[in-house]
Formats: sequence, structure tokens, C-alpha cells
Amino acid sequence: MKSINIGDVELAVDDRGAGHVLLFVHGFPLDHTMWQHQIDEFSRGYRVLAPDLRGFGRSSLGEGEVTMRRYADDLATLVNRLGISEKIVFCGLSMGGYIAWQFWQKYADRLAALVLCDTRAVADTPEAREGRAQLADKVRAVGVQASADAMLPKLFAPDSGRRQPTWLNATREAILRNRPEGIIAALDGMAKRPDVSEMLGGISVPTLVIVGEHDAISPPAEMRTIAERIPGAEFAIIKKAGHMSPLEEPAAVNDVLRGFLEERMPWE
Ligand code: MLT
Repeated sequence: MKSINIGDVELAVDDRGAGHVLLFVHGFPLDHTMWQHQIDEFSRGYRVLAPDLRGFGRSSLGEGEVTMRRYADDLATLVNRLGISEKIVFCGLSMGGYIAWQFWQKYADRLAALVLCDTRAVADTPEAREGRAQLADKVRAVGVQASADAMLPKLFAPDSGRRQPTWLNATREAILRNRPEGIIAALDGMAKRPDVSEMLGGISVPTLVIVGEHDAISPPAEMRTIAERIPGAEFAIIKKAGHMSPLEEPAAVNDVLRGFLEERMPWE
């Protein structure tokens, strides 16, 4: 992992391979290791960047409020600091997708394509905001364990733990490596994120929308609607997977992503 100073924080980033740039942005409350199968696969033909967002993994949190826009600003600065001037493919899962919308709004000129995995375009309902505030209180009281207990049952398809118990353990460990302040800041940032549904029709880069068949957080029907609203977007349902499709069914996700990159990107 490299550590890159982007102003007020040091961002840790797994930076591997050479070629066109794929940026993989993790979900909540995880870190870059959720993309391990995509990092291994795509760093053979591309330059793959998989950062830990501010406050997660090995990245510091810094001061002040965290918003989805601020994470997007961090990533734009990271790409610049790495000396990358070509347009990038931004691939975000769930919270990483919330950040992708903000990246599109502010840095469209830096984007070659968008890949949205298991994410949502709507804002939180008042009940969801209240749930996040309660989880933040629990994390303050008992630590990051509370976020592992709250999130793990929702992340995987019902029988994933039986099929591959190592995912569950690795994901639990990744959550427990995080610091409470980073988790609490992200909960607040997600609760305050805007509804971007009206923006979808204006997206003009090639877009791929991927969802696990059993995703309980961003269900296939909701993601299909997102794909239908983005002009020309491709849509793929990953069989047997839940919310963590890139980790649960890596071969299927990698096939879909490879096909999209080969067919839709104007790279020779
Ligand atoms: C995620 O996977 O990033 C979270 O489930 C997003 C959320 O809680 O809205």
C-alpha cells in the first residue's frame, strides 16, 4: 500500500498494474480489501487503484464533517497526486456508488466510465437516518463491533456464509480494523447525502450497473430502475450474490466488468 498525502489526510491506496486506470471505491463499513478479486484480476491489464477512504482502513480521518462530496474531492485529489491525467473508470459499491454520483457531478471531465455496484440513488428516509444515528451512538458506546453486528447480516446472500465462511470472517476483520470515528463520520455523511435520481438522465459516459440477485440493501428492482434512467446503461444481475457481489461471486462480476470494458471503452 502507498500512503499519499492529499492535504489534510494521508490516504492509503493499493496501486497496481499499468495501463488505463480503474478506481475501485469500497462500501461501508469496509476497506479496499473488499475488491481483492478485482484487484488481482484487473491489475494484469490495467492500472488498478483501490484506496481506503478517509477514516477507513489505513487512511487517516482528518478534521471536520465527512460528506459523499468530500470523499469524491479526496479521490480526485488522489488521482491528481498520483500524476494521472487520463480519464478514469470509477467503480463504486454501495457507499462507493454514493460517492460516484458526486464524482460525476463535480468531476465529469475526469471520467471515462461509471460502474455502479449494489448502490442507491435515493436519499435516506427519516427512519433510515434515525437508524444511522442510533448505530453511531452504539459505536460511540461499544466500538466498531456494533457496526459489524449491524451490517454483516445484511451484506451477504442468505447462504453465502455456508458456501464461503472465509468471506464473512475476512469482512468482519476488515470492519473491526476500522476506527470508531471513521465509521461515525461516514454514517453522518450517508444520512445527509442527497437524492440524485433526477441527475441520472444526464449521465453521458458509458455506465454499467451491477447488482446481486439477493441484495437486501439495494435490491435488483431498484437498481434496474437506476439503469433504465441512465442513457445506454448496461445492467447485470449476479446470481447467488447479495450486497457484496464482487466478493461473493467474483468470477461473474469480473466477466461482466471485463466484457463492459472491452466492448464499451474506446480503447484499442
Ligand atoms: C454500504 O455497503 O456501503 C452500505 O450498506 C451503504 C448504506 O448503508 O447505505
